[in-house]
Amino acid sequence: MHTDDIIKIALDLVEMTELPNDSAVYVPGENIGSILYGIDIGVGELLYAKEQEFDCVIAHHPVGLINHFEVFQRHQDQMISKGVPKEVAQKVINKKMLGFKFGSHARNYDAVPSFARLIGIPFLNIHCPSDELGRRLITASIEELVEKKGDPLLYEVKTHLEDSFAEFREAKTKIEIAKGEENDLLGNWIFSHGALTNGGFDVAECYYQYNVDTIIYIHIAPTDLFQILKLDHGQLIITGHLASDSIGINPFLDKLKENDIQITAVGGLIR
Ligand SMILES: [Fe+2]
Ligand SMILES: [Fe+2]
Repeated sequence: MHTDDIIKIALDLVEMTELPNDSAVYVPGENIGSILYGIDIGVGELLYAKEQEFDCVIAHHPVGLINHFEVFQRHQDQMISKGVPKEVAQKVINKKMLGFKFGSHARNYDAVPSFARLIGIPFLNIHCPSDELGRRLITASIEELVEKKGDPLLYEVKTHLEDSFAEFREAKTKIEIAKGEENDLLGNWIFSHGALTNGGFDVAECYYQYNVDTIIYIHIAPTDLFQILKLDHGQLIITGHLASDSIGINPFLDKLKENDIQITAVGGLIR
């Protein structure tokens, strides 16, 4: 299998035709029969993979991209779907993207890819396609609960997700009701994911202003959380980073296995 074939398998799962800017092939390769997969990959994992004669290494998180911030634009469709006017959403998104853009300028974007080139091991990362799949699967699961219960309580959402996905049951982090009480109603909700990273305080505040009662993020920075906690309205559920990422990644790895690729998963993947 060629690295292009691997990319196509990931894209096909979410009907994407092009690799989003938070995903890339750093070192192409062919005749791939074995893969070392990790949510995060650094030079140590690359070196190990080379020594152990893996044919290719795949990371989930971007490793040295400078335009990955553009994927944050995907928040717009999700915000519009909840009634946020396009111009309002865009203003919030622009502010966040500016921060991500200059944040990436500060990073050593070629540290890991240059090492993969040096030792000559095929290396790529697939981020947004897997997160989008995870977004769809988790959203569908919550929709199923809402269909059954009408307006479920927050703890029922948590229990339902844990019952539905082994990744949530097996993760060391548990699904947390970060703002709100267990017996509060879910109300108008959004599972906000698959757009580079969570929208932090700015995107959350915008949703709350447009009558979203409960935002579900996979993770949140402490500074954003503290700002959200100061608001006198709005609820927040945090599902957990590695578990939620793994839910979108596992179907992709299953597809590779169906194609006779041997997968060794490390680096936080819950499989
Ligand atoms: Fe992710
Ligand atoms: Fe992640």
